[in-house]
Amino acid sequence: MKIFLDTANLEEIKEAASWGILDGVTTNPSLIAKEKRDFKELIQEICAIVDGDVSAEVISTDFDGMVKEARELARLADNIVVKIPLIKDGLKAVKFLKSEGIRTNVTLCFSPTQAILAAKAGAYYISPFIGRLDDISSDGMNLVKQIVQIYKNYNFETKVLVASVRHPMHVVEAGLIGADVVTMPFKVLEQMIKHPLTDIGLERFLEDWRKAQLELEKKFEKVK
Ligand code: E4P
Repeated sequence: MKIFLDTANLEEIKEAASWGILDGVTTNPSLIAKEKRDFKELIQEICAIVDGDVSAEVISTDFDGMVKEARELARLADNIVVKIPLIKDGLKAVKFLKSEGIRTNVTLCFSPTQAILAAKAGAYYISPFIGRLDDISSDGMNLVKQIVQIYKNYNFETKVLVASVRHPMHVVEAGLIGADVVTMPFKVLEQMIKHPLTDIGLERFLEDWRKAQLELEKKFEKVK
C-alpha cells in the first residue's frame, strides 16, 4: 500500500518524508489556496522533496484548457501527475494526455460508473472521495470495494487512490480491500503512529532502566 500526503504544506511534506514512509503527495486547488504561494513554484518545491508522484490539478473545465494546463504542469517535474476532474471533457483530456505520455489522476469520483469510464479513458489513478460520501450518509468505502473488484475483473491498469480520508480506520479498510494508494491529511498520518500502549510501554521500559542504573551506581559506591 502506498501512502500519499494530501497537502500542499511544505513543512508537513518534509516531516513525513523524513519518517521514510512517504510515497507521494496529492494537492487540489483548495489545498494550494491555503498556502498563499505561487502555484507552479510551490508544486516544483514539493516535487523536489518527494520521491514519488505529486498530483497537481488543472483549473480549466474544457478540453483545450485542460490539455494546455496539463502540458505546462507536466513540464514542471518528472514526478508530476495531472489531476483532471471527472467530467466529459476531462475524460477526453485523459485519453489525449495519455497519448502524449502525461499521467493523470482522475479526481472527484463518486460512483463505480465514473470509475469505469476513467479507466477506459486511460487514467493512471482514479480518486474516489470516500469522506465526502460518508458526509452525506453514503458508504464511501463500499465505492472503493466496487472499484477494486471491477478493475480486477477486467485487468484495468488504473490505480485506485483512496482520497478524502478522514481517520485512520479509512486507511485500514482501504488496505483490507487492497486499494493501491491512500492519500491522507497530515493529522491522519500522525494518528496512525499513535497508540497509548506504545507510550505507556516505553515509559515503563525507561523507568525500569533508570531504576536499575541507580541501584548499580549505589552498589558501586558501597564497594568504593
Ligand atoms: C485528494 O486528492 C482530494 O483532493 C482530497 O482528498 C479531498 O479531501 P476532502 O474531501 O477532505 O477535501
